[in-house]
Order: sequence, then structure tokens, then C-alpha cells
Amino acid sequence: MAAIRGLGTLETERLVLRPRQVDEAATYRYLWTERDPRVPPHRRIDADGRPTVAEIAALIEDEPGLLAVQRRDTAEVIGYCGLTGYGSASPDEQELAFELLRAAHGRGYATEAGGAVVAWAREAGCPRLWATVWDWNVASRRVLEKLGFHETGAVVAESVHGHSLATVRQF
Ligand SMILES: CC(C)(COP(=O)(O)OP(=O)(O)OC[C@H]1O[C@@H](n2cnc3c(N)ncnc32)[C@H](O)[C@@H]1OP(=O)(O)O)[C@@H](O)C(=O)NCCC(=O)NCCS
Repeated sequence: MAAIRGLGTLETERLVLRPRQVDEAATYRYLWTERDPRVPPHRRIDADGRPTVAEIAALIEDEPGLLAVQRRDTAEVIGYCGLTGYGSASPDEQELAFELLRAAHGRGYATEAGGAVVAWAREAGCPRLWATVWDWNVASRRVLEKLGFHETGAVVAESVHGHSLATVRQF
């Protein structure tokens, strides 16, 4: 099946989602520093401070489907949201991902950003979207629930802290 195309800039009431820029890498690295200690070590900053800002910057072009989430009122970039499979996986394998700075949590921004990406994917012809979430990640599970995702019962990874659950949003 052909790859999906056309994910560019999305606008919501309070947010603009648009391609990430290399000069925002420090913000994306800051997200790594804020990650819960239960997140697996390869997804957290190591004892040597890696990945560095430069290394995070180099990763940006590898994930063109992850968009910067920018507040309209302050123009501040508060995180990212988008599709991890964009540019590589087929339309039925696209996966939603989102992560916001802690200072921006609790105001509905993740649900608002995720909703824009879900709507775009539906319009683009994806029959479904996937997402994985750790069982202990109550906030993210709630966001996915609000976006219409259902847990499939499949466990895609395990760690000492819990299970990573597969969820799906059918269109
Ligand atoms: C998950 C995350 C993106 C949520 O961002 P957010 O903007 O605060 O989310 P929203 O405000 O849209 O919605 C959060 C929901 O979770 C609920 N919630 C948050 N913490 C909770 C907790 N400890 N217990 C129960 N519910 C909780 C909120 O009440 C809200 O639900 P409601 O609207 O029914 O009240 C943010 O916490 C984050 O970036 N976490 C780290 C990265 C991450 O987990 N990414 C997702 C990986 S799958």
C-alpha cells in the first residue's frame, strides 16, 4: 500500500502543529530530562548526558511525522505530537505519539493536539491508528481514551515497572 502524504501544518483553537525545526532541539531534549523514571533507560538521558542536543537535532529529520506543538497565544513550543510511521509505514500501520513539557500538562493540550492528528489521519485515508502506552501512564491512557482509542489486550513490551499496552482507534 502506498505511503500516506500531506501531513503539514494543523491548526486547532489554541495550538499550531507544524514540522519541527532543528533549532528547537533543546526543547525536545528537555522532554527527555522530564521523563518518568519508569520509562526504559534507552529513552532517557544517560549518565554521560546523551543524547545531547546535537544528537536530538540529528534525529528530527528521521521522524517527519512528529510535529511541533506550539501555543498560539505565546508561540511557545510545548512538545510534539504526530505519527511515528509517517514516511515509512503503510496507512494501516500509523502510530500516534505525543509528549508535552510538564509545565503545559493538565490543560487539555495533548487531547487537542492528538485530536487534530487523528482527524488528519482519518481524512488521509488511514483505516485505523495505533498507539502504545505503559500501563502505569494514567494521563496518557486517559488522553487515548478521550481520542477514541481502545486497548486491544495485546502487550507489546514489558519492563520491571509494567506492561506496554497496544491501543487502536478504528475509523
Ligand atoms: C500524557 C500527556 C501528553 C498528557 O498531556 P496533557 O496535556 O496534560 O493531557 P490532557 O490535559 O489533554 O488530558 C489528560 C487527562 O489525564 C487525566 N490525568 C492526568 N493525570 C492523571 C492521574 N494521575 N490520574 C488520573 N487521571 C489523570 C487528566 O485529568 C485528563 O483527563 P480529563 O480531561 O478526563 O480530566 C503528558 O502527561 C505527557 O507528555 N506525559 C509524558 C509523555 C507521555 O506519556 N506521552 C505519551 C506516551 S504513550
